[in-house]
Amino acid sequence: METSQERIIIFDTTLRDGEQSPGATLNVEEKLTIARALARLGVDIIEAGFPYASQGDFEAVTKVAGEIGTLDGPIICGLARATQADIKTAAEALKPAAKSRIHTFLATSDIHLQYKLRKTRQEVLAIVPEMVAYAKSFVEDVEFSPEDAGRSDPEFLYQVLEAAIAAGATTINIPDTVGYTTPSEFGALIKGIKDNVPNIDQAIISVHGHNDLGLAVANFLEAVKNGARQLECTINGIGERAGNAALEELVMALHVRRQYFNPFLGRPAESTEPLTKIDTKQIYKTSRMVSNLTGMMVQPNKAIVGANAFAHESGIHQDGVLKNKLTYEIMDAQLIGLTDNQIILGKHSGRNAFRSRLKELGYELNEVELNKAFVRFKDVADKKKEISDWDLEAIVNDEIRQP
Ligand code: KIV
Ligand code: ZN
Repeated sequence: METSQERIIIFDTTLRDGEQSPGATLNVEEKLTIARALARLGVDIIEAGFPYASQGDFEAVTKVAGEIGTLDGPIICGLARATQADIKTAAEALKPAAKSRIHTFLATSDIHLQYKLRKTRQEVLAIVPEMVAYAKSFVEDVEFSPEDAGRSDPEFLYQVLEAAIAAGATTINIPDTVGYTTPSEFGALIKGIKDNVPNIDQAIISVHGHNDLGLAVANFLEAVKNGARQLECTINGIGERAGNAALEELVMALHVRRQYFNPFLGRPAESTEPLTKIDTKQIYKTSRMVSNLTGMMVQPNKAIVGANAFAHESGIHQDGVLKNKLTYEIMDAQLIGLTDNQIILGKHSGRNAFRSRLKELGYELNEVELNKAFVRFKDVADKKKEISDWDLEAIVNDEIRQP
């Protein structure tokens, strides 16, 4: 039997950084619905919001903390700038959680210091430990992020991180805030931190990255090879500008290629024990739910969760797959929760089958909504032989979401 081994911590920030996508604003109920799905998915930490930013965010963090932040549930995290007011408000919002984390941040790149913060390096070096210690006066679990670490002077970064850890930070998160670094640079940055921050063994190294050059996931995988053990990501990769690293891509890369990554985590290469705690079968429905509630469509060719991710169009490919799936498939669609029965709903299907398929797709409708959608479904089913998931979503979105 395999023993428990070092693994990768999944920190989901769909409800905080993900919600920072233009137009993706979520209300408190929608945030709770997504938080429930994230708990089912098995993420280790949910960053539920930025409590100081608005009353709505404060309320959402409190509600998520109270309902989802149970002893055996995920850690609930709130973001705070490195100010007393932000940190105190985050601590207040997180109170109902059994396990809570304050995530505080301050920029370290010269460009942010000069133009945004108008502070010197010395001032930053003084504020960071003071604010980490202040956060520590509320919770044990404190994460510190040097914002724009990807463009910061590494020597200065090492000093700031050392001070943050000495003041009690238990996780230090390295953000590539503007998605500027390349995989080898980002990997080298993590290695530099491991080699040069004297007290680094007292904290977990985390990474956070944006996708401006489409490199966020690749950067994270290099970071894992160099010692990062927490990955900050969002469902469908939503987030500021080009988005964040996509949870489903990271998790499936670490799953499908786990034997490649095992040695970097000190595991035997042949170990088949999963590298994360994620229940991969929940990935597809969580992706659909987040897309529906945020209104952020998933591009058809998006890795893992796009409509075409498991489709085979060319005759040569179809022929190969019919002979042996492995010819053109590196993972089974069922691994992410896609079932083979996707197209069996038709005009003879009943309400229960209809309701349960919608549930699998991430829609939890009340009785009135269900009745309305079911009438429309029967109408469409009379005209079409087979009703696909895409038809179902169109029905729900037309009938329910846009009254
Ligand atoms: O992108 C970023 O730097 C952030 C920090 C708050 C971690 O989102
Ligand atoms: Zn970010």
